[in-house]
Amino acid sequence: MKNKQLLKTIVISITFITLFGCFSSNNSVEIKSVTSKRPVGQTNVLKLAVEPIETVRVGFIGLGSRGKSAVNRFTFLDGVEIKALCDLKEDFVKQAQNTLSNRKSTKAEEYIGEDSWKKLCERDDIDLVYICTDWLNHAPMAVYAMEQGKHVAVEVPAAMTIEECWKLVDTAERTRKHCMMLENCCYDFFELNTLNMAQQGLFGEVIHGEGAYIHDLRDKIFRSSDNKGYENMWRLKFNTSHTGNPYPTHGLGPICQVMNIHRGDKMNYLVSVSSSQFGMNAYVKETFGENSPEAKGNYKLGDMNTTIIKTEKGKTIMIQHDVTSPRPYSRLHTLSGLKGFAQKYPTPGIALEPNSHEFLSKEEFDKLIAEYEHPFITEIGEFAKKVGGHGGMDFIMDYRLIYCLKNGLPLDLDVYDAAEWSCLVELSEISVLNGGKPVEIPDFTRGDWNKLDGLKFAMKSEQ
Ligand SMILES: NC(=O)c1ccc[n+]([C@@H]2O[C@H](COP(=O)([O-])OP(=O)(O)OC[C@H]3O[C@@H](n4cnc5c(N)ncnc54)[C@H](O)[C@@H]3O)[C@@H](O)[C@H]2O)c1
Repeated sequence: MKNKQLLKTIVISITFITLFGCFSSNNSVEIKSVTSKRPVGQTNVLKLAVEPIETVRVGFIGLGSRGKSAVNRFTFLDGVEIKALCDLKEDFVKQAQNTLSNRKSTKAEEYIGEDSWKKLCERDDIDLVYICTDWLNHAPMAVYAMEQGKHVAVEVPAAMTIEECWKLVDTAERTRKHCMMLENCCYDFFELNTLNMAQQGLFGEVIHGEGAYIHDLRDKIFRSSDNKGYENMWRLKFNTSHTGNPYPTHGLGPICQVMNIHRGDKMNYLVSVSSSQFGMNAYVKETFGENSPEAKGNYKLGDMNTTIIKTEKGKTIMIQHDVTSPRPYSRLHTLSGLKGFAQKYPTPGIALEPNSHEFLSKEEFDKLIAEYEHPFITEIGEFAKKVGGHGGMDFIMDYRLIYCLKNGLPLDLDVYDAAEWSCLVELSEISVLNGGKPVEIPDFTRGDWNKLDGLKFAMKSEQ
């Protein structure tokens, strides 16, 4: 069994090396990625803006735990019409339909079954396809929807392979459609406020950031969606056959925004190391018994994965992933600058020069948060808290998506963010399988990463 596993690892490593090309030089990245030329006639979609859409007509694909709550949130948005609902399971579609009728929204067309999502994408009365399915369906659905002339909002990660990342980028550039990854953590209160502080120079130049997804999901991983788990146990299946960091974007997104990734800096390479698998193995033996089928599972995902990224401007980002250890929830969100420091977990804190060796007092901290409150929070924060969705951040995200579409503005998060943040899924696995060797991160903008001067969210008043 062990030999079989070793052989499989060697075969995968050779495949990766063949695909990505492997060479050594003194100071360069050992595993290179390949960037094909932008097809003739295709241009970048930085700051892509389309005609304003007065009423945004939406179709939802995937109505499990995440999709159902998205439908509910959308009933609180003005200028939105929910036209279609799609899932494999009829009862999930009915539950979402009930949400619409409880909120006095018009009944939506129903699509049920494996391939019915294509029919939803092909409708000519939909502007936006909102995808909340399992990971492996994200990119194929997003690409198809854009090809059918629809804008796309897709859950995290938007893609699971480098090939899929490129497909998203090329399809968005070719079709001139928006493709926004629904990275809700970019809209959480502390993240937005500290982004505002960083942009106003409070921390000086931010030279190091840390993010994570540390969430004990052992119980949920082994349940189906009818039982508060995942449909068809998609997360367990992925974690059984992959290692590295399969879910990097919650931690990475807000840090990349602070560091202006593809808006003045870019991620050049990463190194990634995972612990062996201990947690799931111990959990299944204890929960289901030594002789259970679960205990015979061959789980590949290491419990703790740590990935370190170096940027073109010489900054570093550390991203961690652990969903199989008994630990309190954390996304870290640590910012370290030349003049100050912020962290969200385990306890929010800020430290500033000249007294940066200790955190500000609660009073000083609260004062600073009030002073630097992000405009999105001032505008919609209180209402978002009432609607809910991870304390309100999910609603701020949806609100901004619809606001930008209605006003013909560039979206806050573009297809390059989606590709850059999602590409860690495969690249971290490649590095882990190659003893932590440095792996090049593709420049999905194909050389245009320095054309924008920092991250600026579009506002109607500034048009
Ligand atoms: N941003 C966040 O905070 C956050 C939180 C939870 C989950 N997620 C992401 O949201 C996605 C969904 O997670 P979930 O917890 O809702 O999972 P889930 O298993 O509860 O829901 C997925 C749904 O997709 C449906 N589906 C699968 N294939 C389909 C197809 N071909 N056509 C139509 N429907 C199909 C399933 O029937 C299921 O109802 C995942 O990508 C997950 O990573 C994000």
